[in-house]
Amino acid sequence: MAIFIFIFWILNLINLFAAESNISLSEHPIYKLIDKKMPQTSQDKPLDVKIGFYIESLGNFRSTEMAFDVDLYVYTSWKDASMSHNQTGYILINDKNVLDKMWVPDLYFANARTAYFHDVTVPNFNMFIDKDGVISYGTRVTLTVACNLVLKNYPLDKQTCSIKIISYAHVKEEMNVTWFTEGSVRYNPEIGLPEFKIMAITSDYCNGTFHYTITDTSSRIGDFSCLLGLIDLERAIGYHIVQSYLPNAAIVIISWVSFWIDRRAVPARVSLSFTCLLTLSTQGNGLRYALPPVSYSKAIDHWFGVCMLFIFGVLLEFALVNSYMRRANKYNNLAQSMRWSTPGIYNHPETDTDTEEDPVRRHKLGNFVSQPELVYKAMFFNRRALAVDQISRVAFPGAFACFNLVYWYYYLYYSNSVES
Ligand SMILES: *[C@@H]1O[C@H](CO)[C@@H](O)[C@H](O)[C@H]1NC(C)=O
Ligand SMILES: *[C@@H]1O[C@H](CO)[C@@H](O)[C@H](O)[C@H]1NC(C)=O
Repeated sequence: MAIFIFIFWILNLINLFAAESNISLSEHPIYKLIDKKMPQTSQDKPLDVKIGFYIESLGNFRSTEMAFDVDLYVYTSWKDASMSHNQTGYILINDKNVLDKMWVPDLYFANARTAYFHDVTVPNFNMFIDKDGVISYGTRVTLTVACNLVLKNYPLDKQTCSIKIISYAHVKEEMNVTWFTEGSVRYNPEIGLPEFKIMAITSDYCNGTFHYTITDTSSRIGDFSCLLGLIDLERAIGYHIVQSYLPNAAIVIISWVSFWIDRRAVPARVSLSFTCLLTLSTQGNGLRYALPPVSYSKAIDHWFGVCMLFIFGVLLEFALVNSYMRRANKYNNLAQSMRWSTPGIYNHPETDTDTEEDPVRRHKLGNFVSQPELVYKAMFFNRRALAVDQISRVAFPGAFACFNLVYWYYYLYYSNSVES
């Protein structure tokens, strides 16, 4: 019994193989018409090939590599009169072996670094041939496309990336590739990019004049069909507002606290300013993350630089306040010691003597300085220090607000309108 089953099984297997190898092109009448040659057209007219695509997904923008990935359905259509038939409706071809025996337009993606077809679970393509021999061929490809980013306005920039389609071998006089008249470029409305917002995807043509048939001594210049799918992107600013702009602005604002701290509290004010400076430069390290080392400055660099300058300004302001305070102290100390000793013999250890106009020396030279005059001078410098602080309390926030106005106006309205 078992041996019968075994023989039956073997016979079945042989049958299967036979059926497999029997898949000849004779199965369907249309298969007899299949040819690997480019379709002939009447009166030497170019073969018209129409193309369009649907973007299924888009993403993985890598600024450092200046590339992104895109998953496309590419639709092409051309007419091969020799394929016309009298079957009802379309004839579907979805066998890869048959496709391999057919001619398809030799289009390629000029700015794609890598590209591949999908083969799971079956090769992802379809082909329909209608009565007149109009062929519609659709396939799915995934591309890694190069996109030259101009980061001058980063992160308030708009980018245009393109997908360039060119025929590899046929000049325009042989094969004229154009976009479908309607709905040539469409995209999945659900595409959500973390970094960019898709503003529009449009179709365009590029001037495709290239050297070809290059030999040692000659080359020909030909006009090739060149098609462009343009993807207009605008960077989503939210992330950068939260990650860069607000923290930087917060540090700058915190540094202004220094203007309200006691003028005599030198360590407090200096360490506050320095802490702010260090925190800001730490935040700046994050800005360079995932960006190519371009040779020009970006919008974020300008912002960061100005924030740095503001904190540096706070430090300078304190240097000024402190120098006034030291003078005030000096005159104060002089006035104090004058009260207890006779003029001319004091030598106060705390007295600062790094200014040219040294009251002690002046006094020794005989210019009498009265005690009220010293007290008045001390008060004068004390007031000046206070005035510097008081002015700074208004001037620094004011200047920062003005800078913000100019910065945001320039990058949000002006620079983008100049470009377009
Ligand atoms: C279909 O076309 C073939 C030739 O291409 C012809 O021999 C045949 O009679 C046609 N059949 C019908 C139903 O028109
Ligand atoms: C290519 O086709 C387009 C549209 O069908 C047409 O306007 C253009 O003149 C054609 N170019 C050539 C070289 O035939």
